[in-house]
Amino acid sequence: MQRGKKVRILGLMVMLHLFVFVVLEVLWGGGREKRRQPKVVVPSGRFWRAFVPSAAYWNREQQKLDLLHNPILKAENVSAIDWFNATTGRGSCEPDVGVRAQVKDYDALPARFKDFLLYMRCRSYPMVVDQPRACEKKPFLLLAIKSLAPHFDRRQAIRQTWGRAGRLANRTVATVFLLGDAARSDHFPDLRDLLRRESSAHRDLLIWDYRDTFFNLTVKEVLFLDWLERRCRDASFVFKGDDDVFVNTRRVLDFLEGLSPARAESLFVGDVITNAGPHRDRKVKYFVPESVFVGQYPPYAGGGGYLYSGELALRLRSVSPEVPLYPIDDVYTGMCLRKLGLAPERHKGFRTFGIQEKYRDNACVYHSLMLVHRRTPQQIIEIWSWISNPTLKCK
Ligand SMILES: *[C@@H]1O[C@H](CO)[C@@H](O)[C@H](O)[C@H]1NC(C)=O
Ligand SMILES: *[C@@H]1O[C@H](CO)[C@@H](O)[C@H](O)[C@H]1NC(C)=O
Ligand SMILES: *[C@@H]1O[C@H](CO)[C@@H](O)[C@H](O)[C@H]1NC(C)=O
Ligand SMILES: *[C@@H]1O[C@H](CO)[C@@H](O)[C@H](O)[C@H]1NC(C)=O
Repeated sequence: MQRGKKVRILGLMVMLHLFVFVVLEVLWGGGREKRRQPKVVVPSGRFWRAFVPSAAYWNREQQKLDLLHNPILKAENVSAIDWFNATTGRGSCEPDVGVRAQVKDYDALPARFKDFLLYMRCRSYPMVVDQPRACEKKPFLLLAIKSLAPHFDRRQAIRQTWGRAGRLANRTVATVFLLGDAARSDHFPDLRDLLRRESSAHRDLLIWDYRDTFFNLTVKEVLFLDWLERRCRDASFVFKGDDDVFVNTRRVLDFLEGLSPARAESLFVGDVITNAGPHRDRKVKYFVPESVFVGQYPPYAGGGGYLYSGELALRLRSVSPEVPLYPIDDVYTGMCLRKLGLAPERHKGFRTFGIQEKYRDNACVYHSLMLVHRRTPQQIIEIWSWISNPTLKCK
């Protein structure tokens, strides 16, 4: 009996201690918790955004693609996806006549817009001239230059100077010119035979069978990325630019050489434009109507020329089907980068808006820059000779 009582008293004491401990813990500890954590807000109404289709055609197409590529909806096999999939008509190269009813001022738009909208879903055109061996030797730098069929002199000036394929500064450089079919425009001289000769002499033309216009430059971009994935996926870096720019290829190689591996992997540098949006003045080359696009542009690098890693090129290739074609190619690339959660980086060596007049003939200025827009074939050859002169002394 005595022993049982002792045990009971002991048990009571333990419980009392426990009780006091719990009370103190709730009073102080709970207080501590309360101070640290913000109040939990329980939504009283619906907390997701309702799906509101945009009034602008491009934005609406993007919304559909977003739904189509939404991993949660996909996993749940939401039947709406089939509908979106069907209505985006992906990859179709038939003229999309339905667009006439979907863009409210379609009939009033300039002809180039009607054209763009009719073929906006077509992303693949047959290749007429390919260079399967362009990247046979793994290029450290691939130069991909947007050109037009009649620009024979520009291409030749580039081959003789900054775009010479082969070894430069102990690195392998490969060069390709990107072309569509100019003969598809009315009253255009047939240059196909000349191009065939040029191609067999230099083996650096990539030609696709589509109309080579300003609004089809995005098609050129998509076709190039496609080609790169098939034929040149080992290129360490890619420069993509116009055929009227001067590029200091040695300076570019120097810059690439100095990159840390982490920076090199997701490199995208150029002359970056931020806080821009579509021009609403119909007279401007870059005019885009409100019925087609609303919103700001993401940061993008001016199309005169930019430099990126081969790895990023492949990522751009894989994300591009998730972004509807946009009539301005450099903005489109900015949109693809944004989809990847990336932004282009500004580098002051890229002068897509040119340089001050007083520096035009200063060899040392070109020596320190990576790209200058815009220069004639003659100027390109002259500037290259200046900066290739071993006696040139610049500090
Ligand atoms: C998804 O749903 C459709 C009907 O809406 C059905 O035919 C199809 O088999 C489903 N797919 C999967 C993978 O469950
Ligand atoms: C969408 O359609 C294409 C062909 O029309 C098909 O290959 C693809 O699997 C479809 N995607 C989804 C998510 O249903
Ligand atoms: C040239 O590059 C190769 C490897 O790409 C290297 O082994 C060699 O040392 C380099 N030569 C010079 C002069 O830098
Ligand atoms: C783009 O090229 C296709 C194929 O040649 C053509 O049908 C379309 O009209 C072109 N688009 C523009 C905007 O020039």
